Amino acid sequence: MIPPEAYARLAKIAWVHAPPTEDASESEDVIGRYRICERLGAGSAGVVFRAVDPDGQEVAVKLLRRRRSRGSRYMRELELLERTAERPGVVALLDAGRSARGPFLVLELAVGGSLRTLLSREKRLGWRDASELLLTVAESLAALHEEGIIHRDLKPENILLQDGGQPLISDFGLAKDLGDADGELTSAGIAMGTIGYMSPELLDGNRDQLGPWTDVFALGSLLYELIAGKPPFSGKNLREAARSVREDEVADLPDTPPRLSALVRRCLAKDPTQRYEQAGDLASALRDALSPADNLPEAEPPAPSEG
Ligand SMILES: Nc1ncnc2c1ncn2[C@@H]1O[C@H](COP(=O)(O)OP(=O)(O)O)[C@@H](O)[C@H]1O
Ligand SMILES: [Mg+2]
Repeated sequence: MIPPEAYARLAKIAWVHAPPTEDASESEDVIGRYRICERLGAGSAGVVFRAVDPDGQEVAVKLLRRRRSRGSRYMRELELLERTAERPGVVALLDAGRSARGPFLVLELAVGGSLRTLLSREKRLGWRDASELLLTVAESLAALHEEGIIHRDLKPENILLQDGGQPLISDFGLAKDLGDADGELTSAGIAMGTIGYMSPELLDGNRDQLGPWTDVFALGSLLYELIAGKPPFSGKNLREAARSVREDEVADLPDTPPRLSALVRRCLAKDPTQRYEQAGDLASALRDALSPADNLPEAEPPAPSEG
């Protein structure tokens, strides 16, 4: 007997491959029932627009590039987003469909743009602001890790910011459910990630070694870049950058408490078993590192005794 989940999956595949529904108008600036306002950004898989729905509500519409639209990436993203939609700190999926221009996802609009935009504007954040932001991301990611989902493509372009600066994890195009045997992507798919955020085991396509610690590496890289204003590993070309990830020692973080520098270094260990095992462990360590007792220079001076 086919289990109900398999039916749901088949139905979804049939729907994705079905002929496109008519757009509300032939106009270039309409996708499905969403009116396009402006282009917000693009990645390897799609172009994202700010748009309004028929009720006037602002949303983000991610139009998948045709070339990739029929591949596993769209299905993966859709499935993972459906499963994670209710999670705090994960971008919400509002709708999905196929327009004449290809399949699309409708997401909650992150008005603050991506962390990449923030970094290009601010260059870097102080260690405390950076760590607090990363703690929120790690806490949201911990819930996914507990469910066996790994993201595999965490980088500043894929962390979005809400109005109040709250970070949202987005872009589940390379995510993987560890319990799903056929949920593997080709190495070409994995190579679409950005090198400096990819752990050595991800770069080597070492499937057996992939796990939540692979995301922990990416978060370490992210925290490093937020504090230092440049990524921990880089190179003139892909090959150089990959060599840097595999071989280079992590340089010291400027003006950062030693405990926090050590935490970042542990996230960036070449050997996955030397890292925090999952985002929840990283979150606890970050909370400890942020506690005033560990940062004596910033601690409140003792209150003068009364009387
Ligand atoms: N929900 C959203 N709200 C605001 N901007 C978004 C949203 N989703 C994506 N973007 C912008 O579009 C870019 C590409 O989106 P992303 O989902 O990462 O596409 P890809 O899968 O092609 O990498 C992001 O880096 C961000 O700048
Ligand atoms: Mg992306």
